[in-house]
Amino acid sequence: MDNIKKLAFGTDHAAAEVRDTVKKYLQDIGYEVEDFGFCGQGGCDYPDFAVQVAESVAGGKANKGVLICGTGIGMAVAANKVKGIIAAVCWNEDTARLASRHNCANVLCLGSRTATVNEICHMIKIFLNTPFEERHKRRIDKIKEIEKQRRAK
Ligand code: RB5
Repeated sequence: MDNIKKLAFGTDHAAAEVRDTVKKYLQDIGYEVEDFGFCGQGGCDYPDFAVQVAESVAGGKANKGVLICGTGIGMAVAANKVKGIIAAVCWNEDTARLASRHNCANVLCLGSRTATVNEICHMIKIFLNTPFEERHKRRIDKIKEIEKQRRAK
C-alpha cells in the first residue's frame, strides 16, 4: 500500500447505489475518507460535489480525490476548473493506472453507469497504488504553465 491515506470523496444521485459500498471499501483498505455528502435519490448537481472534493485536494487536506457520477465526465469537467487539479475520467484498469502514471491525476472520476461497483473499487485501488513516473513531468509542467498563464489574463 502506498502512503496516500486521506481521500476526498463525492457522488451525485447517479451514484446512489454504489456510494456506500465504495466508501466502505476505501475505509476497509485503510483510507481516511472525507465524504462531501450526498443529496439522496432525488436530483442534485454534480458540480456542487466536484468543487468541494477538488478544493480539498488542491488545499492539501486530502491527498487524492474520488468522484462518481453517471459517467464521470461532468465531475471531471467541474473539478478541472479548480487550480491545481488534474481530474481524469477512467473506465477500466489501464486508464486508471495511466491517469496516475502518465497524467499525474489527483482526482479520479468514475461512472456508475459505465462500470460495476466491483470495477469501480478495483479502478480506485489501481489508481491509488500507481505512482507518477517522473519522465512525464515535462508535460505536466506544460499543463501547469497553461493554467498559470490563462489565469493571469
Ligand atoms: C446525472 O443524470 C448525470 O448527468 C451525471 O451523473 C453525470 O453523468 C454527468 O456527467
